[in-house]
Amino acid sequence: MKFFKQTINTVPLQGQTVLLRADYNVPLKKDGSIDDDFRIRASLPTVKKLLADGCKVVIISHLGRPEGRYPKLSLEPIAQRLAEYLGESVRFVDQTIGDKVKMAIKRAPKRSVIVLENLRYYPEEEANDSHFAQKLAENTGARYFVQDGFGVVHRAHASTAAITDYLPGVAGLLLEREYTTITKAMKAPKRPLVAVMGGAKVSDKIDVITEFISVADTIIIGGAMANTFLAYKGYAMGKSKFDTDENATLDQIYAAARDKVGADNVDKFIILPTDLAIGHSLDSHEQRINKAADQLAADDIALDIGDKSIEKVVEIAAGAETVVWNGTLGYAEVPNFAHGSARLALALATNPGITSIIGGGDTADFVLNWDARKGDSFTHVSTGGGASLELMAGEKLPGIESLLDAR
Ligand code: ADP
Ligand code: 3PG
Ligand code: MG
Repeated sequence: MKFFKQTINTVPLQGQTVLLRADYNVPLKKDGSIDDDFRIRASLPTVKKLLADGCKVVIISHLGRPEGRYPKLSLEPIAQRLAEYLGESVRFVDQTIGDKVKMAIKRAPKRSVIVLENLRYYPEEEANDSHFAQKLAENTGARYFVQDGFGVVHRAHASTAAITDYLPGVAGLLLEREYTTITKAMKAPKRPLVAVMGGAKVSDKIDVITEFISVADTIIIGGAMANTFLAYKGYAMGKSKFDTDENATLDQIYAAARDKVGADNVDKFIILPTDLAIGHSLDSHEQRINKAADQLAADDIALDIGDKSIEKVVEIAAGAETVVWNGTLGYAEVPNFAHGSARLALALATNPGITSIIGGGDTADFVLNWDARKGDSFTHVSTGGGASLELMAGEKLPGIESLLDAR
C-alpha cells in the first residue's frame, strides 16, 4: 500500500536543516525519570536517516500537559536518552522559539541533532497558533518540516497543523509505517482478520468497534468492555466495572452485527467470555477464582476473562492471519488478572505467521513489559494511543492531512 503523503524518502533533504516533530510524550516515574522509552526508540530510524543525509535535525515535542513552564516536564532528560541511543552528542536548548534557539542552531554543525524545550510550555502550541508556528519555522531556519510524532497526529496543534502553512511538511519513517501497517490491516487485511477488543470503557471505543463490525471476521471482547456486553445481555455482574449507559450503543452494535452475519451467527461473530476470573478487591495479591459468566455473586468483581475463555481466545487467534488487538483483556496491572492478556501475547509472539497489530496506550505498555524483545515479537506495536484508535476507526488525522500529497 503506497503512502499518500510525501516522506523523507521522496524529497531532497541532503544537507538541509529540518524541523522534526516527534512524540516524546513518554511515561515518567514519580521521581520524574523516564519510565519507558519506547517512543524514543521508535523515532531512531528517522533521526538516523536524516543524519545520514547530513541534515541539521531540530527536534520538537510535547511532554505531558503542563500549564506553563513546569520544570519536571522538561525535554532535557529525553535529549540525553536520545544521545545515548544515537551514540553521539545532542544539543538541548531550554527554549522553543526565540534568539537562543536561533543562535544554537546557527552554531551547530551540519549533521547534528538539537532538541528544543517542551512545546507545551507555550499555550500557543495547543491553540494551533499561527504566529507561534511561524516563529518555529523562522527561528529554526528549517527548509522542511518532518512529522514523525504519530502519537500526536490526531491533535490539530501548532506543531502538527499550523506549522505546515510555513514549511513544506513530509512524513517521517515511523509515521509512514504506523499509517500503512494499521490502514492495511483495516482495509486490505490477510484474512481471517480477528479483532480483539478489551480495556476499560465501551464509550472510548465505539467508533473502532463499529469499524470492526464491518471489516473483521471475528471480534473477541474481553476486559471491562466484556462486562458491559454481558450486563447488556442480562448477566448479573456483581461489583465488576462496566458501563451502565451504553444500551443504545450496544443495540446499534448488535443490529449492525446481525445485518452482517445474520441473527443466528451473531454470537459466533462477537465472542464474549463464557467464564470470568473474579476477585474481591484490586489488591496486588488478590486471588484469582474462575466462575461461569452467569454465576457471579453480588460481591464478585470480574477482573479477567476466565481460563476456558482464554483457551478459546488463543484458539481463535491461532487460526487468524491478522490479529488487531486493542485493550487489555483484564485488570493486567495485577499479575493474577493478566493471564488473558499474557496468553494472547504469547499466542501472537509464538505464531510469527500471524500479522499482529497492537494499539492503545495501556495495551502497548502491557505487551512491551511482557515481551523480552521489547515489542519485536509482534508485527507492530503502535506508539499511538488515541491516534491509533482514530486511525483504526477510519478517521482523518489532522497531523497527517496537513502534509504534502505524494506525487
Ligand atoms: P488502551 O489504553 O490500550 O486503549 P484502555 O485504556 O481502554 O486500553 O483499557 C486499559 C485499562 O482497562 C487498564 O487500566 C485495565 O486495568 C482496565 N481493565 C481491563 N479489564 C478490566 C476489568 N475487568 N476490570 C477493571 N479494569 C479493567
Ligand atoms: C499521547 O500520549 O496520546 C499523545 O502524546 C498525545 O498527548 P495528549 O493526549 O496530551 O494530547
Ligand atoms: Mg488507556
